[in-house]
Amino acid sequence: MITLSIVKADTGGFVGHSAVHPAMMAEARREIDRAIASGLLLDGQVAACGDDISLIMTHTYGADAGLIHSFAWDTFQATTHIAKELGLYGAGQDLLSDAFSGNLRGTGPGYAELEFDERPSEPVVCFLADKTEPGAWNFPLYKMFADPFNTAGLVVDEKMHAGFAFEVYDLYQEKRIIFDCPADLYDMLMYIGAPARYVVHTVRSRTLGETAAATSTQRLSLIAGKYVGKDDPVMIVRCQAGLPAVGEALEPFAFPYAVAGCMRGSHHAPFLPVPAGQAHPSRFDGPPRVVALGFQIHDGRLIGPRDMFDDPAFDTARTQANEIMDYFRRHGPFEPHRLPLADLEYTTMASLTRKLAHRWTPMTTEIATPIG
Ligand code: F6R
Ligand code: MG
Ligand code: MG
Repeated sequence: MITLSIVKADTGGFVGHSAVHPAMMAEARREIDRAIASGLLLDGQVAACGDDISLIMTHTYGADAGLIHSFAWDTFQATTHIAKELGLYGAGQDLLSDAFSGNLRGTGPGYAELEFDERPSEPVVCFLADKTEPGAWNFPLYKMFADPFNTAGLVVDEKMHAGFAFEVYDLYQEKRIIFDCPADLYDMLMYIGAPARYVVHTVRSRTLGETAAATSTQRLSLIAGKYVGKDDPVMIVRCQAGLPAVGEALEPFAFPYAVAGCMRGSHHAPFLPVPAGQAHPSRFDGPPRVVALGFQIHDGRLIGPRDMFDDPAFDTARTQANEIMDYFRRHGPFEPHRLPLADLEYTTMASLTRKLAHRWTPMTTEIATPIG
């Protein structure tokens, strides 16, 4: 058994919330190299999407391992130190707890972890996002693992035809449920179509019994009890041989669907698939970005990455995304560009309610203008 862990955090932005400074990336790489040399990690790489650093690590300690989580925490402390030295924006933004106690749950950084017996060939895609929320993966996971118009294997591959089981979290009530698809498909869509609350956590093959996908499900705004930054989720998808082909895992992103996030975590905007070198959301702090890093895992080593969206076949999605962004932007402060009141990460509503309370009057018939 090996474990693939992606642990990510925003420990400071360069410039504003748009990217990670090279000195922070270099520091994280030094820490990863040390951890490989010491034997803690089988292998590890550092990647970034927007202002979030992702530590992509293989090891033998399993999910939720104290040793791995505290290593990631210490690494993010080190990158925060550099962010402070350089005066970068929001230094240490996602490190919410001063007293880390062995596990990252509830401390701010996000993580997606998958434990598995390495297959003879183990192709994996690590998806990293910036300026959106964990529920942003609901749509592509549905497409990859339940929609035959996306994934041909669901129809024509014996090992996929029985479908996949989706583990879905209710982030508000901290409950979970398993939906066995295709039988439970319509029930599941009622929930996961509301991605601010219901989030797919894992997906498992009903034929192979293998977990095929895992997402990070933390919602920082709920953890902190106040807005501290969008969660900027990550996702691992294992591919091929009875799981979605690499091309089936990437295909959902050929449609730049709308996600919540973007400016001040408070707007719908198209999800833009980009090569790693373009994962720097600038326009209106967006559009939200997704990067896909492909690896072959062999004896725990991460062979890669291949920058999977560095492909002209995604150019049309990028062009459409820019048109959709223009369309949304012209709504300005109106929904559906702006999120519904309950989902805003920034809001003046509470203070406005207090300030204007005495100016709101009942809508009485006497005041109403007569018609005709
Ligand atoms: C969205 C995001 C940014 C900030 C915005 C305002 O997830 O990180 O859009 O919300 O730049 O940031 P502050 O309030 O730090 O000035
Ligand atoms: Mg930031
Ligand atoms: Mg971010």
